[in-house]
Amino acid sequence: NKGNYEHYMQKEIHEQPESLKTTMRGRLIRGGSCKAKTVLLGGLKDHFKTIRRSRRIVFIGCGTSYNAALAARPILEELSGVPVTMEIASDLLDRQGPIYREDTAVFVSQSGETADTLQALEYALENGALCVGITNTVGSAIARHTHCGVHINAGAEIGVASTKAYTSQIVVMAMLALAIGGDTISSQTRREAIIDGLFDLPNKVREVLNLDQEMKDLAKLLVAEQSLLVFGRGYNYATALEGALKVKEVALMHSEGILAGEMKHGPLALVDENLPIIVIATRDSCFSKQQSVIQQLHARKGRVIVMCSKGEAVSVCPGGLGRVIEVPHVEDCLQPVINVVPLQLLAYHLTVLRGYNVDQPRNLAKSVTTQ
Ligand code: UD1
Ligand code: F6R
Repeated sequence: NKGNYEHYMQKEIHEQPESLKTTMRGRLIRGGSCKAKTVLLGGLKDHFKTIRRSRRIVFIGCGTSYNAALAARPILEELSGVPVTMEIASDLLDRQGPIYREDTAVFVSQSGETADTLQALEYALENGALCVGITNTVGSAIARHTHCGVHINAGAEIGVASTKAYTSQIVVMAMLALAIGGDTISSQTRREAIIDGLFDLPNKVREVLNLDQEMKDLAKLLVAEQSLLVFGRGYNYATALEGALKVKEVALMHSEGILAGEMKHGPLALVDENLPIIVIATRDSCFSKQQSVIQQLHARKGRVIVMCSKGEAVSVCPGGLGRVIEVPHVEDCLQPVINVVPLQLLAYHLTVLRGYNVDQPRNLAKSVTTQ
């Protein structure tokens, strides 16, 4: 049931304030004035000791689910102190990469049925790792075969392009980071800021959804382009990959997410006055580096569109050069949840304007159950 929406993808994008609330329901505890703020993940409570002691945490997934894990990686490393590595499921299998008994392997999958991810799970089980699932589908193969896990509870996702599952996956993995991380005095302020940020996140997502018309206007501007680059780094490297994935899979436009730190190692050669480039430069510890990336793109007459924190257009566009997308500012590790929304909207509007099928992109299936 699409309700008042024309497409499932559109409905699912606009549903995110509610789906995020459901994801967090019963799992965030704010406590009284002197009680600590905590996270409760029922499915993992008997396993945290093992996870904390593991030699590393390996995230394994495909497509959007892999991108969600990449977005959560920095906060998991920061709060847990355990090294976190990333594996695309098919690549882990192709290499028969090392997985050890001392590893915690985390399988991220909306459907819980993706063949590559499921096969990587069988492989990790054979190698004796603790296997944790993060899935949206109760009773799915990945939910059943993992030792333990967390359901993201985002509600059924119908559109082939994953949107609300992505933001709920990031939120679950941020809660996982909080739950694994020790309750040390030094991290207390940080933890509380993240928990407060999680409580407020649905409101901020509602706010960023107000950019719908602005993204439709931007889509009109970009509708006939051949290609679109998205530059991100740090917490928002994943946002760049995920924004580009949405644009290519539904709008059928070539798009690439690029790690901004790699710009000078190749991608800079593509920059001219025609190729549109979205640079994600919301306020965080990478901000000044992104400012310098923007300057260098302008110096080469690049066609730059900057995503920045509300009220900061002047510091990212000196002299009013280029277009800006201003988004609400949230705690750095939660910013990817906000920043992906305008890119989801852009991909959606580009698809409608280009006349392609939004909910069933050509050649794609919602759940990839063959290899
Ligand atoms: C559970 C109930 C929820 C109830 C809540 C009350 C289910 C599915 N969930 O939620 O309805 O409101 O208790 O406290 O009955 N699991 C895996 N792999 C996965 C995902 C989950 O093994 O990929 C396991 C978990 O370890 C857990 C069970 O499935 O044993 C349910 O997980 P989850 O729904 O996340 O647990 P709760 O949030 O506690
Ligand atoms: C992109 C998309 C795919 C899936 C991928 C993994 O919008 O939907 O990239 O993310 O096929 O699917 P799950 O998460 O079901 O394992």
